[in-house]
Order: sequence, then structure tokens, then C-alpha cells
Amino acid sequence: MGRSRHVGWVAAGLVLGAGACYCIYKLTRGQRQGDRGLRLRPSRSAEDLTDGSYDDILNVDQLQKLLYLLESTDDPIIIERALVTLGNNAAFSANQVIIRELGGIPIIGSKINNPNHSIKEKALNALNNLSVNVENQVKIKVYINQVCKDVLSGPLDSAVQLAGLRLLTNMTVTNDHQHMLHNYITDLFHVLLTGNGSTKVQVLKLLVNLSENPAMAEGLLGAQVDSSFLSLYDGHVAKEILLRVLTLFQNINNCCKKEGCSAMQPTFPKGSLFFLLYGEECAQKMRALVDHHDADVKEKVTVLPKF
Ligand SMILES: *[C@@H]1O[C@H](CO)[C@@H](O)[C@H](O)[C@H]1NC(C)=O
Ligand SMILES: *[C@@H]1O[C@H](CO)[C@@H](O)[C@H](O)[C@H]1NC(C)=O
Ligand SMILES: *[C@@H]1O[C@H](CO)[C@@H](O)[C@H](O)[C@H]1NC(C)=O
Ligand SMILES: *[C@@H]1O[C@H](CO)[C@@H](O)[C@H](O)[C@H]1NC(C)=O
Ligand SMILES: *[C@@H]1O[C@H](CO)[C@@H](O)[C@H](O)[C@H]1NC(C)=O
Repeated sequence: MGRSRHVGWVAAGLVLGAGACYCIYKLTRGQRQGDRGLRLRPSRSAEDLTDGSYDDILNVDQLQKLLYLLESTDDPIIIERALVTLGNNAAFSANQVIIRELGGIPIIGSKINNPNHSIKEKALNALNNLSVNVENQVKIKVYINQVCKDVLSGPLDSAVQLAGLRLLTNMTVTNDHQHMLHNYITDLFHVLLTGNGSTKVQVLKLLVNLSENPAMAEGLLGAQVDSSFLSLYDGHVAKEILLRVLTLFQNINNCCKKEGCSAMQPTFPKGSLFFLLYGEECAQKMRALVDHHDADVKEKVTVLPKF
């Protein structure tokens, strides 16, 4: 990718005119004599710069120029490359802070509205890397509604949908912003049931995160969920899915014990997750799983309520 990236930066220079060329020159060449204080990797050889095996670590000045470039260009190829480079740089905790302090989060965030799905996806990936920082999450949370809508409107199993789900998952590693997903739970279950294996796993990571929070239990149990959900508890279901749906049940059940869900039962509507999880069909599935060939699955089932 090194060579094509270089072509991209050169193109960026052409777009922005001669003044920007120096910036582009710095972006592609400047690391060698660049800011030593921020250098996060050892110096590299000429081959490193072109073999594309890793991305350059930029200093504050370079990050600022890159953000300016991202803000000012309309060229989709430049936008995409700038987002990828920012995303890669955001893998480092020092850069997560710098990008926020440079006002980079709204610049990157605005690209999730780009109609080009490839650009949308790269913006979501960059936000995802930035979201590892708790203070960044406070700035990123303003995009949660938009990301939820995008994830739910598909296209199903697309790269952009997965990127959105990953961002939502990482925005819910703490309980702080989980309530913002409350209105989307029923639709997330729909994506869970219709998506393929990769999508299912990613939706389940998100739902499992929500299920650890007692404040979300009522929203989860009250969600309208198609009865085909129970087929995820069949013995032949892939282990990475089966273990997660069992964890989901276990977490919800633990919250229920604390919150006294049986007292809330009348408030759950017909067709809700509550009636699926605590119904006879689910109980049968659990009894069958007690004899599952996989030890991890068996162990999960035994900590669930006795059926
Ligand atoms: C989306 O952006 C990519 C590159 O960034 C470009 O190759 C592609 O042509 C764009 N698609 C549309 C529909 O503009
Ligand atoms: C995000 O960070 C990971 C490492 O945590 C890195 O592998 C990935 O390339 C980074 N970039 C993007 C755009 O996601
Ligand atoms: C998302 O969160 C998971 C779990 O906390 C973490 O391992 C992963 O690195 C995060 N992903 C990114 C792209 O930061
Ligand atoms: C899900 O669909 C996407 C897009 O078609 C594909 O790239 C991915 O490999 C699929 N995953 C599984 C597990 O089938
Ligand atoms: C959320 O999910 C991630 C990845 O699956 C996990 O590492 C993290 O511990 C979870 N956090 C909570 C609060 O459940």
C-alpha cells in the first residue's frame, strides 16, 4: 500500500495546490527528521516506507495538517486515506489525546454522514480507535444515534454495518452511554436474527455488554424478539455464538435476581424476550444443552437457573 498511498498524498497536493505540497511532502517524508519526542517506533529503512507493512506515526504538526486536509478536500480517495491514517494513528493512546485536543473528533465524525460507504466505514473505524479513550467517548457519544440508525438500515452484513456495530460495542464497555441504545434494542435483535455469523457475533458482543448493566435489563427483557431467537440455543450452533447467547441469558438472569423481574412480569408485553427466555421451549433447550459435547457450553448452562 506504500506506493499507492504515496500517490494519494501527491494527488492531495494537487487538489490543495502548491501550498499544500509542502504539507504532503512532510506527511510522506517528514518522519525521518520528525519530532523525536513523539516518535513511537524505531527509525525505519527506505523499504519500510514503501512496503506498506505499517503506517507512519505522525507528530502533532502532521496530525493537524492531516485534519486540515480531511476538512478541506472533496476527493473521496484522499478522504479515505486520511481517515485510515488517522485511524491507525489513533491506535496509540498519546495520539488519541492529541487528535481530540486538535478538535479532530468532529472532523472525523462528520464523515460518517458521507454517502460513500467506504468513507463511512473508515470514519467509523477511526472513531472506534479513538473511543478507547474515556474522554474521547464523551465527544463521540453525539454520533451514537446516527450510528444506530445506520447500523439498523443496513446493508445487512456489510463492512459499514460491522464497523458501526464495533463502534457501538466499544462505546458500551462502560455503562455511561448504554442508555442511549435503549430505543434500538428490538431492532438490534432483528439484526441478530437476520445477519450472518460475523454480524451475529458482533451484535451479541454489544447485547452482552448491555446485559451486564442492571439498568438495561428491563429494556432487554421487554424487547419484541422473534421466537426464532431460541434456535440460537440449539446444540449445533457455532460455539462463539452459543456461548454468547448463554452469557446474555446468564447476565440478564443475574440482573433479574437483583431487580426482582418476576415482580415486573406483568409489565412485559407478549412476544417479548422475557417470555422467550422464561418459557417452556427455552427450558427444553437448556435441558438438552446440559449434555453438550463442549465443556465450556456445559459449564455455562449449569450456572443458569435450574429447569
Ligand atoms: C467511494 O470512495 C472510494 C475511495 O475512497 C472510491 O474508490 C469510490 O469510487 C467511491 N464511491 C463512490 C460511489 O463515489
Ligand atoms: C485501529 O487500531 C488497531 C489496533 O488497536 C489497528 O490494528 C488498526 O489498524 C487501527 N486502525 C483502524 C482504521 O481501525
Ligand atoms: C474495542 O474494545 C475491545 C474490548 O474492550 C478492545 O479489545 C478493542 O481493542 C477495542 N477496539 C478498538 C478498535 O479499539
Ligand atoms: C457475512 O457476510 C459478509 C458480506 O457478505 C462476508 O464478508 C462475511 O464473510 C460473512 N461472514 C460469514 C461468517 O459468513
Ligand atoms: C463489553 O464487551 C467487550 C468485548 O466483548 C468486553 O471486553 C468488555 O468487558 C465488555 N464490557 C462490559 C461492561 O460488559
